[in-house]
Amino acid sequence: MMQPNVHYAELKDSYLFAGIAKKTQAYLQAHPGQKLYRMGIGDVSLPLCPAVIGALHAAVEEQANQSSFHGYMPECGAAFLRESVAAHYAERGVTLNADEVFVSSGASDELGDITDLFARENAALVIEPAYPAYVDACVIGGRNIIHLPSGEENGFLPAPPEDGQAGFVYLCSPNNPTGAVYDRPGLQAWVDYANRTGAVILFDAAYEAYIEDPALPHSIFELEGAKTCAIEICSLSKTAGFTGTRLGYTVIPKTLTRGGMNLNAMWVRNRTTKTNGVSYLLQRAGAAVFTTAGQEQVKAQIGVYKQNAKILTEALDACGIWYTGGKNAPYVWLKCPGGMGSWEFFSYLLNEVQVVGTPGEGFGKCGEGFFRFSTFADPADTEEAARRLKTLLK
Ligand code: MLT
Repeated sequence: MMQPNVHYAELKDSYLFAGIAKKTQAYLQAHPGQKLYRMGIGDVSLPLCPAVIGALHAAVEEQANQSSFHGYMPECGAAFLRESVAAHYAERGVTLNADEVFVSSGASDELGDITDLFARENAALVIEPAYPAYVDACVIGGRNIIHLPSGEENGFLPAPPEDGQAGFVYLCSPNNPTGAVYDRPGLQAWVDYANRTGAVILFDAAYEAYIEDPALPHSIFELEGAKTCAIEICSLSKTAGFTGTRLGYTVIPKTLTRGGMNLNAMWVRNRTTKTNGVSYLLQRAGAAVFTTAGQEQVKAQIGVYKQNAKILTEALDACGIWYTGGKNAPYVWLKCPGGMGSWEFFSYLLNEVQVVGTPGEGFGKCGEGFFRFSTFADPADTEEAARRLKTLLK
């Protein structure tokens, strides 16, 4: 008889965002026709930019013709896209070979799949509050999780532990959900820790495009020694509005080895077995993001979301509510007013002003009492939500 993976029983009843969707759906069923101001899940509201749309149309035409048709794509990514990504890193002073870049179908899949590289016995260190997919992937894989709490006292940016118990570490900067960003010394401390203990850092850089302070690192590979201890996982979801299009990339330096094995070569082996590559159409769309026109257009879109962040943080300032993030990150992380619990505040906002956010507790125990707003909503909705928040909370 098949024995199920019993670790599924250790997961929460539903994934955080699926749970929120269910609660908002129930609210709408009880209040038909009511408009909601959705700032819960970080899903983008602007359409793909013209450079991307143009590339998609051109790629569709290529696929329609015998002479330009593409069948299977290389499993680790098309050379044109791997080279575009490497060139993008070079502009930041990070030298990569194109074959250190792997094209993926998005960061959320990759953050779990990449753990195929690590023996089961490796414990995962997760800084909490955390993007719930890290924890769920480790629970499903039956791995031990070391929870490293963070809070206001360390600006949600904890220093590495003294011990070397973790086999690998999830680091997310700019952080989801807190919006906190490691500065160079803070991130260097993690790189030094990983090189000292032999741990591997899984650096989730999905929000790097939101950094505006030139002193802050976008990539872990800007730090000394990172190429012997880190894997970087990136996504075009929030950089270029690909949440529904699905495309990302992962950097595994060829110098990253453990136990005499090369992690880049292992991932090539993994991808060639487990995938048939990302579609040609999407890889052409992704390459368009890295063109001059593409970069200008996606930066303009990011500017719109940054304006949303400004509107929301001004509303919180007006209400005297403590928050962090929103400046170098597309999330605003606030303390629930009046000592409310985070799910209590969720229901309060939903029922009183029809504003949907994400309860901090959904990102781990130390998120209790906090709440997250995404800045990716429609600008008019964000303005109205800010107005409602001010009316309710001032
Ligand atoms: C979030 O809201 O935390 C993200 O949108 C989730 C994701 O990227 O999968």
